[in-house]
Amino acid sequence: MSLNTLEEIASYIVSEGKGILAADESNPTCGKRFDSIGVESTEENRRDYREMLFRASGMKGNIGGVILFDETIRQNAKDGTPLVNIISDQGALPGIKVDKGLKPVGNTEETVTVGLEGLDDRLKEYVSMGAKFTKWRAVIKIGESIPTDECINANMKALADYAKLVQDNGMVPMVEPEVLMDGDHSIEECFDASDRSLKSLFKHLQENEVNIKGTILKPNMITSGSKSATQADVDEVARRTLDCLIANVPSELPGITFLSGGQSDLIATAHLDAMNKIGGFNWKLSFSYGRALQAPALKAWMGKTENMFISQDALSHRAKMNRLASLGQWAEELEDE
Ligand code: G3H
Repeated sequence: MSLNTLEEIASYIVSEGKGILAADESNPTCGKRFDSIGVESTEENRRDYREMLFRASGMKGNIGGVILFDETIRQNAKDGTPLVNIISDQGALPGIKVDKGLKPVGNTEETVTVGLEGLDDRLKEYVSMGAKFTKWRAVIKIGESIPTDECINANMKALADYAKLVQDNGMVPMVEPEVLMDGDHSIEECFDASDRSLKSLFKHLQENEVNIKGTILKPNMITSGSKSATQADVDEVARRTLDCLIANVPSELPGITFLSGGQSDLIATAHLDAMNKIGGFNWKLSFSYGRALQAPALKAWMGKTENMFISQDALSHRAKMNRLASLGQWAEELEDE
């Protein structure tokens, strides 16, 4: 695969319905996922699990990029092959999460994502290890009088500073302004927080002269809060998400790849499909799911080698269903085939 420019890398990742497998859980988050199936989160178990996912046959043709955590980009498979090579052999590009997590803002519930210090050196190392794209996640919470403009602006400015540095190092920045689903807020409040975040993000990206054609956006969908008594249906989520994106995202951006954020695997696929069936936008609208791609595979695996094939089949199936959704060609009946 010879992809020479940022534009070529970004477009490749989302070409022909392909999306991204987010496998960049930090060790504590991976620990929580493994707890749910009673598996201890050791370095070897994390490696075995991820090696199994990356070798699944359904990676090919459905997954254009894999986001890794620092530990994983350095790991070799059981037979000594670097995991990065297994990913590349499947036709996917290796990516890396480069932020250093969330820091509370004073005594408030709000956070700002940190990690700019020393980033340039870390990026240079990741390039030498074969990374082609990167991820930085900003988190915006909805609640009593939040999100504040200060929190949104501080987070979006950091995302833009990160994106510029990543492009200067020859990689594609994935910018992730995640408005959390957690809470009992309405879909209107989610729209408002997401609209303000995206406006601020693209203003800062422009000020930093970030090349939009060599950038990928990883946003949340516009949904009701996960604890809200009124839950918007698939059609409403699809329409409001498109309204928000069309109002804020430049049309030259090559790809928007959604996070799943706690949506079930089937709902995340249904939402993506509904948006692509509506159409009316220039970007590729695809997926960068963590839980919504991995949940069935994790459940099938249970930490047992003998479950490897059914677990890989589960991942392959979700990858294929989501590629179809990125093309607006998914239907619920296909889930049983
Ligand atoms: O930053 C978020 C993850 O890469 C995506 O995970 O789809 O489980 O929200 P999720």
